[in-house]
Amino acid sequence: MPKATFMGHSCVMLTDGKHKVMIDPFLSGNEKAAVQADKVDVDFILITHGHGDHIGDAVSIAKRTGATVISNYEIMNLVSRQGVQKAHPLHIGGGANFDFGRVKMTIAHHGGGYGPDASIYTGPAAGFLVEIGGKVVYHAGDTGLFYDMKLIGDMNKIDVAFLPIGDNFTMGIEDALKAVEFLGPRHVVPMHYDTFPIIQADPQQFARKVIGSQVHVLKPGESFDF
Ligand code: NI
Ligand code: MN
Repeated sequence: MPKATFMGHSCVMLTDGKHKVMIDPFLSGNEKAAVQADKVDVDFILITHGHGDHIGDAVSIAKRTGATVISNYEIMNLVSRQGVQKAHPLHIGGGANFDFGRVKMTIAHHGGGYGPDASIYTGPAAGFLVEIGGKVVYHAGDTGLFYDMKLIGDMNKIDVAFLPIGDNFTMGIEDALKAVEFLGPRHVVPMHYDTFPIIQADPQQFARKVIGSQVHVLKPGESFDF
């Protein structure tokens, strides 16, 4: 049975007992992160977009561990220029098979840019559908609510959905509740809240209002099997 661990902000670790897949490894600079970047052991790193709170420590972790970075074509080039040896480019609507399973890149309504003022072009922001251990995980990345989440839910039996609830830069609680309705996941985990004052949100308020899915409000480092 695969396991999901919330590492803080939008960072998630997925394991099937054999492979370790980390999404959006923003650890350095997040005092609430569950682990230090130099202690992370992973095989694959997925990056939803170029903003610093998502690409995070991807380059240093990939260089130290030899992990394969999976992201869009622009970010694949960016991390390769910085010395990452193994990187696989995807783009929106496309997927590919890896040792642990399939990764498909989905749309996200959000910006993409790297560097201190996010001015280095990194393509459009994205989300991921990740098949691991025979289950399907949807990580929305940073996004506003979009109606195609209904299509994603119709076409995939989603076991776990990681959804931003922090408002301001992404969906807030009300829109995330609509996203849950569209996606119909078995489990849902709120993310991208409380890391900074500007994205404060009450995950229990979200949890109380979710209908039909099991909500896991996780502290950094907490996990569940799915
Ligand atoms: Ni962002
Ligand atoms: Mn963000």
